Amino acid sequence: MRMVDIIEKKRDGKELSTEEIQFFVKGYTEGTIPDYQAASLLMAIYFQDMTERERTDLTMAMVESGDTIDLSPIQGIKCDKHSTGGVGDKVTICLSPMVAACGVPVAKMSGRGLGHTGGTIDKLESIPGFKVELTSEQFIKQVNDIKMAVVSQSGNLTPADKKIYALRDVTGTVPSIPLIASSIMSKKIASGADAIVLDVKVGEGAFMKTVEEAEELAHAMVKIGNRVGRKTIAILSDMSQPLGYAVGNALEVKEAIDVLKGHGPEDVKELCLTLGSQMVLLSGKAQSIEEARKKLEEVLNNGKALETFKAFVASQGGDPSITEHPDLLPQAKYKVDVPAKEAGYIKKIIANEIGVAAMLLGAGRETKDSEIDLSVGIVLNKKVGDHVEKGESLATIHSNREDIEDIKKKIYSNINITNEIIETPSLIKGIIT
Ligand code: URA
Repeated sequence: MRMVDIIEKKRDGKELSTEEIQFFVKGYTEGTIPDYQAASLLMAIYFQDMTERERTDLTMAMVESGDTIDLSPIQGIKCDKHSTGGVGDKVTICLSPMVAACGVPVAKMSGRGLGHTGGTIDKLESIPGFKVELTSEQFIKQVNDIKMAVVSQSGNLTPADKKIYALRDVTGTVPSIPLIASSIMSKKIASGADAIVLDVKVGEGAFMKTVEEAEELAHAMVKIGNRVGRKTIAILSDMSQPLGYAVGNALEVKEAIDVLKGHGPEDVKELCLTLGSQMVLLSGKAQSIEEARKKLEEVLNNGKALETFKAFVASQGGDPSITEHPDLLPQAKYKVDVPAKEAGYIKKIIANEIGVAAMLLGAGRETKDSEIDLSVGIVLNKKVGDHVEKGESLATIHSNREDIEDIKKKIYSNINITNEIIETPSLIKGIIT
């Protein structure tokens, strides 16, 4: 087989065989296919697309390029959740104990990553003493004992995806549905779950800016998952403004705990109930979506979800008393309010730019080696549709530097106020099964 023939075939809009896709993925991962040929094929895929069968073959070839996690020693149907990423997304931290308290085993590997704040793993590290690394025996035992564990990714999962993604990043081939879908699904499938619930974010703060684009990506991922025997569904959720109020690592952990105590932000709670209902249903712990939701509401109301969170934190070496004493989480030195310059209704809160402001305070990594400051970030005091009086606080900046004029300026230019009444944007934009 010759790589040039594969490139020409895709360039001309033809369907690649399973063997040709495997040849490319294996050869590129092992270094026998050079960057220029791989880049050329990726660009051909960008323009010519792939069939469902090709997308599935590409996904599985990337899964087979590295280690896969065997979760079979864990009893029950293991359900994983994945978010395509957004600002203020602390859902894993509150959703996992909610579904675990309903009896769904949550064996989760999470990442750090670049971005406005750290990933779930960084956020959890703001809990004093919390360990993000467990041996595989400890990981399996913990999920069997208390139904949940969240650890940082270890082992050599999907090395082909890492290499291909890095090449896409510098060759203008990231925004391609077949390439994004296979990249995300290869990681989920290699992580071993039986069922997968995807949270595909839509809006200015997300990868997919329109509902149509998000639907296309969601369909692509759901089809790949189901074709390889993993029950997969996707929820499309709004990311036109940050999720919840808090954007920052320790700040988001505190907000997730508030949700578990039953008084966190409505949008975070609603998203957890929507995603969680699907997880409970897919895992066979309820017979209908209504029953699943009722179970989740019950564990929030009777404190079982909070108890599961505490057991999880304690089991991974963290201090569970942070639930009663959130001031034990890292605290920033300065807390500065940003007062509204005029009265009116909040029209827009540009999620991406609020995320950038949090990153400039030190909450996120600019490069993969940057240190992050777990204590800093931004807590919004208003959301889209809220009324604000002149002088009332739009947001509170949590900072360890005294001069925050740049951050204030960014907040003012990215929270728009109008005289007209504004409707709260709907949170759930669709469900793809
Ligand atoms: N996230 C991924 O993991 N892969 C992509 O291709 C895009 C976003």
